[in-house]
Amino acid sequence: MKSRITEQELDTMPHSEQEKITVRTLKARKRKGERITAVTSYDYPTTRIVSDAGVDLILVGDSMGMVLHGRGDTLGVTMDEMIYHTKLVSQARPHSLVVADMPFGSYQVSREETVRNALRCIKEGGAEAVKVEGGRKRFEMIDAILNAEIPVLAHLGLTPQSVHALGGFRVQGKLKGKAREILEDAIELEKRGVFAVVLESIPAELATVVTRELKIPTIGIGAGPDCDGQILVFHDLVGFTKLYMPKFVRQYADLYDVIHGALTHYVKDVHEGVFPDDRESYHLKRPVEELLK
Ligand code: KIV
Repeated sequence: MKSRITEQELDTMPHSEQEKITVRTLKARKRKGERITAVTSYDYPTTRIVSDAGVDLILVGDSMGMVLHGRGDTLGVTMDEMIYHTKLVSQARPHSLVVADMPFGSYQVSREETVRNALRCIKEGGAEAVKVEGGRKRFEMIDAILNAEIPVLAHLGLTPQSVHALGGFRVQGKLKGKAREILEDAIELEKRGVFAVVLESIPAELATVVTRELKIPTIGIGAGPDCDGQILVFHDLVGFTKLYMPKFVRQYADLYDVIHGALTHYVKDVHEGVFPDDRESYHLKRPVEELLK
């Protein structure tokens, strides 16, 4: 009989043999006091690396509007763009849970349109859940999505799609009224059935209380160390760009410099005629003239 797999074996297993993460796995993690890791991804090769590294949740974030499309905010991301990138991610068949971000405008108009758009994320994109920004103003739409049997990841605090309403990308929940609202919304969202809540750019002390009050996991970004999990934008984490980084980002690599170094070396080699060399070229076994006769 096959013996049980040890934790250590699981850690070193190639992705195809790793346990598939589901919303149940993440809720169980909270009960067991085990932390959750989450990173954004928008394409196939990145997803393979993220999954192989053992990240639990992949968010196909509307942050793509900024880090992939080069815009100043996330507001212009369309449903078609979200579906396209979600497909690229789900086709990599990650062990991580794949969550598609509902773009701005895709869940504000009507319940019908909201459910249709969330269904597209699952049926066309291959996502396993969707993320929706906002609290009390979005309860009705979140209920509609949950009624369609689609798991929802909520997002409170700094909700970047509200950038104009908030008057900029600012830390939220520093004042009494707003801090209470975030806590109340989180408690109500749990009752309604979301599987986890992203807490973005709120004071660490407030995130600690929200995390303590909820049975579902909180996933923080700029919300201090006490959340049940952490999420970062992939491009920030690996230093892919030289764009402005918020204070909460820890940059674990300097990919911009690594890639820039490789490309400038390539440009130099081509200019100097040292790439390609003999080993990088195909050769005939007889004189070329014989072939051309
Ligand atoms: O779009 C995104 O990447 C996000 C994360 C920052 C939580 O919403």
